[in-house]
Parts: sequence; structure tokens; C-alpha cells
Amino acid sequence: MTPVPFADLHTQYLSIKPEIDAAIADVIRNSAFVRGPHVEHFESAFAAANGVEHCVSCANGTDSLYIAMHALGVGPGDEVIVPAHSWISTSETVTQAGGTVVFCDTDADTYTIDPAQIEAKITPRTVGIIPVHLYGQPADMGAIMAIAAKHKLWVLEDCAQAHLARYKGRMVGTFGNAASFSFYPGKNLGAMGDAGAVVTHDPALAERMAMFARHGGLTKGDHRIEGINSRLDGMQAAILSAKLPHLAGWTRRRQEIAAEYGQLLSRIPGLALPITAAGREHVCHLYVVRHEQRYALARHLKECGIQTAINYPVALPFVPAYARLGHRPQDFPNAYYHQSRVLSLPLFPEMTSGQIRAVVDAIEDFAH
Ligand SMILES: Cc1ncc(COP(=O)(O)O)c(C=O)c1O
Repeated sequence: MTPVPFADLHTQYLSIKPEIDAAIADVIRNSAFVRGPHVEHFESAFAAANGVEHCVSCANGTDSLYIAMHALGVGPGDEVIVPAHSWISTSETVTQAGGTVVFCDTDADTYTIDPAQIEAKITPRTVGIIPVHLYGQPADMGAIMAIAAKHKLWVLEDCAQAHLARYKGRMVGTFGNAASFSFYPGKNLGAMGDAGAVVTHDPALAERMAMFARHGGLTKGDHRIEGINSRLDGMQAAILSAKLPHLAGWTRRRQEIAAEYGQLLSRIPGLALPITAAGREHVCHLYVVRHEQRYALARHLKECGIQTAINYPVALPFVPAYARLGHRPQDFPNAYYHQSRVLSLPLFPEMTSGQIRAVVDAIEDFAH
């Protein structure tokens, strides 16, 4: 039996150990724990990697959404449209910022917000849309930006799962007014703790976001507004800078593994494989299949030493936190259909062909 973890962060660390160890040692040598040169360096390197001018780092991906919405001016009565199928950070931060969450169903194939459903959700109180590039696949940014322009709405791209993904050749994170990123350890670019960032082309928005994240001012003792304390620490910044040059290679490897899974799993009855829409480059953060007996399949894989995950078992409109909205399954048929069928298989850049084979064999064994 070849055990297959869901992800293998230790093997990734070992593959670049001298770089990571040197980065950490440098932070300690210079006592550069909070802000300082490592944070500034990462902010400019990450902005450049995304083809945007400004990057405001912060404590985690959830804060990056909250900070962006606060700086975009979300307030009481403002409605923000978010996909029904995502991690709760996308919606809970709308409420934190003072706004009202409006869910929109996702597309049957790509799991990203369905542009055809967005306009029906727009009211005179709508201020913005948060498309999520879920699992690593860009949302349909052409259609979304056209709707946003027509109704004068801002767009905040949730790129937590989609570092370096492209829509029609253009990087995600460059379409909207701002884009949020998470560097949670298991993400395609992961820190060794919590970390996040918002990027934008807009200098005034970047300044408002930086001020809000740093107690309301750009320098110590400057408090032009009341803010919060959401900082990327020096250690995480140095680690992320050491990892950033490897991101493109790791992404290619993820895409190769996804392609191999695609070939090997294509003839298994009852298994629906991920679909990448035309013109979109999927960075394969997660490899999500669908199966009618999702829990039985997961149990069988576990018995074979293979870890899986469910992203996510209950779509956002149906979690207890949103019971107050009184949503019914027929309001979001795709998200509702997907929630009981999705299963994420192991996929990480360091995966060996033996591990890929072990996953495929175990699924074949279950199916026959
Ligand atoms: C789609 C999405 N948005 C936002 C976040 C929030 O990121 P973090 O866990 O760094 O707060 C995540 C991460 O889990 C995510 O997957």
C-alpha cells in the first residue's frame, strides 16, 4: 500500500530547505519580525508576479477580503453578490464590512459564479461582485466585468485558490478593482503560518487598504482613521519570497498531475472529472471529482491509505450561519447538487507517479 497524503508540505520544504532556512535565519539575525525589509520586498515581488502596481500584505486571506471591502466603502445596506459555492471567508467578510450578502448560483461545470444568474440578483442597493476563482479555475471574468461595467459595480476577485491562473491569457487579479490572496500553508503559494495580501492597480485604493490594515495610518503614530492590526510578519514574508520563484514550476507540475489524472480516470464509471472552460488556465489548486457515493468512495480511499477532502460539504446559503436568509435548495440548484457529490483527490507538486497510480488504482478498485 502506498500512502498518499492530501498534501505534503514537509517534502516541499525539504526540496528548498537551504533557501527557507537562510530566509528564516536572516529575519532572526536582523530581528525583522514585524514589517521591515522582508515584508516590503515580498509586497513588490508579489505585485510584479501578478502584473499589478500595488500589493498590501496582511495577516491572512480572510482579512484581505475584509480590508478590500472596507476600503471600497462597503457599509450598511450595501449588497454584495458572492457565489453560493465557496469558503465562508468570501461571504462572512461582506457582513464584517457592514454589508449584506447576496448569494448567486455557480456554474454546473466550473463551480465558479454563473454570470447568467448575476443580473437577476442586482438591485439598486448592489455595490459589488466577488467572483471566486474556485479550485484554481478563473471565473468567467469577461462576462462578469461586462455586467459590472453596465451596472457600475466594483469587482473584488477572490484569488485565494488561484495564484497565477489566467483568463484569456490575462492574469487573474488584474481584472477587478482589487484582488485578494491567501497564503495559507496548503495554498499554491503557502506560508508557514497565516498570511494574505490584496493587490490593485488603483493607488488611492491601495493607500486606503494599507491605512486600514495598519491602525489607520501609513507610518507609526499616524492614525488618520480607525483601523485594524492585520500584518504579514517578517518571517512569513521571507518564506514567501523564497517560495515565489518556485511557484510557476510548482504550478506546471500541478497541471501535469491533473492531466495525468484526467487520462487515467476518464473511463471510470460514475466519476465526473473537473472541466476547464475554454480560454481559462486552471492552476489546479484542488482536483475535485464528483461521485454519487462520495462518502463511500472517500471511506474506501481512506482504507487504502489515501487522504481526501471535501471542498465544501454544505454550500454557503445552506450553512447554519445563513439560516436567517431562509434559502431553499431550488434557489441554488447547481451549488446544492454539487455539495453532496464533490470530493477532492490528493494533488500536490511533489506527488510521485507511484502515488498518482495508487490513487487511480484505489478508485478503479472501488468502481469495479
Ligand atoms: C476561496 C477562499 N477565500 C478566502 C480564503 C481565506 O483565506 P485564509 O484562510 O488565509 O484566511 C480561503 C482560504 O481558505 C479560500 O479558499
